Amino acid sequence: MKVTVVGAGAVGASCAEYIAIKDFASEVVLLDIKEGYAEGKAMDLMQTASLNGFDTKLTGSTNDYSKTAGSQICVITSGIPRKPGMTREELIGINAGIVKTVATNLISHSPEAIIIVVSNPMDTMTYLTHKVTGLPKNRIIGMGGALDSARFKYRLAEALGAPISDVDGMVIGGHSDTGMVPLTRLATRNSVPVSEFLSKERLEQVMEDTKVGGATLTKLLGTSAWYAPGAAVSALVQAIACDQKKMFPCSALLDGAYGMNDICIGVPVILGRNGIESIVEVELDAAEKAHMSESAEGVRKTNALLDV
Ligand code: 2OP
Repeated sequence: MKVTVVGAGAVGASCAEYIAIKDFASEVVLLDIKEGYAEGKAMDLMQTASLNGFDTKLTGSTNDYSKTAGSQICVITSGIPRKPGMTREELIGINAGIVKTVATNLISHSPEAIIIVVSNPMDTMTYLTHKVTGLPKNRIIGMGGALDSARFKYRLAEALGAPISDVDGMVIGGHSDTGMVPLTRLATRNSVPVSEFLSKERLEQVMEDTKVGGATLTKLLGTSAWYAPGAAVSALVQAIACDQKKMFPCSALLDGAYGMNDICIGVPVILGRNGIESIVEVELDAAEKAHMSESAEGVRKTNALLDV
């Protein structure tokens, strides 16, 4: 199993590291445009192999896509991250051009690849990748909901005073500070609805903290987060590479599901060797449906800025 990660910045390198440590891929190619940067990070990661106990072979490349040829899975993390106070949507001017070039180069060397898009504004970059590659819709996946759900579980566990392993929950909708839809109604503490433990007000606070989870970290770090984004991507890569049939909320091109068409937005999907094996239509209540349509409006507004 050969995986390519484009963008050897913090997110891409973390993703490559977690993939290597999980040791399910034979090879990970890390590619960046900055001279020697990907080669350096790949070599540094390879020098952890004996310590972290993996046999995955990591190599780096400075913008030579021939090295990525024959990848089964390609991850696009390239582009600029946001600075404190910025929205993800403000990155579109620079990142759209980068994602367009990267996606085209990847597919020309790995025509059968499944692409996972991380670059922001992620839902719109996922939509752009569909437009520029024309790949079947099951083979383009946007990573946002897996990360947002991880932050949701973190906040729920914090509110419950429970171990995270006891908590389950999912965030759907757009990967944006205002567009996320944390499904508090369906969240559980060891199969018991969290509403049995937390007041409506406290759950509202959990939702709000989840929505700004990325912005909170950008304020603290001075740049976008990378550990949890990298871990979330590696979980999607593993689900596909190992044909796990796991369910994650991912940005998928909708063709009628959730009453939407011609939009990429976070919905529950089953991930396996074919990428998106199926979209899961969860019964939403009136408030959740309203949040989803508001969220879709926001994504469409950003999509309208693309010249595709
Ligand atoms: C985040 O939320 C980078 O969008 C990513 O941290």
